[in-house]
Amino acid sequence: MSQADIGLIGLAVMGQNLVLNMADHGFSVSVFNRSPEKTRDFLSGEAVNKSIIGTYSLAEFVGSLKAPRKVMLMVKAGEVVDAFIEQLLPLLDKGDIIIDGGNSLYTDSTRRTQELAEKGFLFIGTGVSGGEEGARNGPSIMPGGNQQAWSAVKPIFQAISAKADQQPCCDWVGDGGAGHYVKMVHNGIEYGDMQLISEAYQLMREGLGMSAEECHETFAQWNQGVLDSYLIEITADILTFKDTDGNPLIDKILDAAGQKGTGKWTGISSLEMGVPLTLITESVYARCLSALKDERVTASKIYPRASQPSDANRTEVLQAIHDALYASKIISYTQGYMLMKEAAKEFGWDLNYGGIALMWRGGCIIRSTFLGEIKRAYDEAPELQNLLQDNFFEQAIKTSEANWRKAIIFGIQQSIPTPALSSALAFFDGYRSEKVSANMLQAQRDYFGAHTYERIDAPRGERFHTDWIQSGGKISSTSYEV
Ligand code: 6PG
Repeated sequence: MSQADIGLIGLAVMGQNLVLNMADHGFSVSVFNRSPEKTRDFLSGEAVNKSIIGTYSLAEFVGSLKAPRKVMLMVKAGEVVDAFIEQLLPLLDKGDIIIDGGNSLYTDSTRRTQELAEKGFLFIGTGVSGGEEGARNGPSIMPGGNQQAWSAVKPIFQAISAKADQQPCCDWVGDGGAGHYVKMVHNGIEYGDMQLISEAYQLMREGLGMSAEECHETFAQWNQGVLDSYLIEITADILTFKDTDGNPLIDKILDAAGQKGTGKWTGISSLEMGVPLTLITESVYARCLSALKDERVTASKIYPRASQPSDANRTEVLQAIHDALYASKIISYTQGYMLMKEAAKEFGWDLNYGGIALMWRGGCIIRSTFLGEIKRAYDEAPELQNLLQDNFFEQAIKTSEANWRKAIIFGIQQSIPTPALSSALAFFDGYRSEKVSANMLQAQRDYFGAHTYERIDAPRGERFHTDWIQSGGKISSTSYEV
């Protein structure tokens, strides 16, 4: 007998917690996992006395679902998703819905939406953010794909999602891979936020010689103000956590970062779109540099750096670091929104920028008070060209600018790398400049490759070539334009 409202495949922690969350909100859920022991353990553990049905074959699983069937995959992104889709299709009926809730590459979601639509099935590729705790108590959910599927899934997703300002942190994002694209940008911003906080931490710890506990107190205090966010909160928690010997655990953790690829995808997409996503991309490179641990150890012996903490005024430098972090965070989100705008143009998505800020406002890893201001900015001016043109962010940047520079100079003086803080400032100084140095660049391109240039005293689009070495050559090249 068909009875479950939705089915979920993949009982790793995220999958289990989503199932429990759905059951707590009154939905009956069928579950299937490749290894049956996991299903049994789950059913005899946390799932006891909840409307959760265990199944042990895909046929049994599909047979237990109400029509139109809603099958959510919480499995490893990539080939595993395609393999499950292939096994499911012969068992499903036209009009049934397959949902992929993993961190899938958006181009895969675009392809799957199209391939399944051609066969008469509906596909949703959705970002789910918030980690294990979010999945259990309210994640941020960013669905995209085939919009025809949305009305059937909406009541479940909006019920289980986090809420911010009494509204669900989940709404339809757009066609094809739009949901996974927005989740990818979320993760890129997550990389940026984490890198900025880590740089601020190193400036405090090594630049000012602060103890882990003192850093904890500073971050805890910052979490009461404009930087109030989940990532600042957990940073404060991490800094006060002690290892078994009573010393801060943070000091025992190897400084070599891992990454699963979503930050890299964001950087790649920015290069494809021609959007200067400098802070996030620097954050990916910072992880790559950190991973060169052995090489860095060797280099540190060749180029030892002054390791004495500065005797600068701590209160002043801390305020400078705070303001630099805030201003850089504004730049990071500005760049992320620039990328989404360009992607929307490229792929024909009608993205709701205020809505995206609301989806990120609660439940997800980058949740913060700050996102409330982004939502307000786009709600007030949906066509806003750039976040830096919003009055609130203009004032915030102007108030922070002097300290932003001061913090970076402090890092330079102490030989502490601040790639994210610095690249944010470099972007800002470029973006706010009526004139940059590209006239020289264009001259060089034309000099060695006859790539032509535009002139300030001629209409845009009119191209000129100069015979720089008076060789008599008049032939210009346009073959290198991208
Ligand atoms: C989230 C997280 C989640 C995951 C990251 C980790 O939104 O809940 O982003 O998706 O923790 O993918 O990414 P890295 O391993 O690349 O840091």
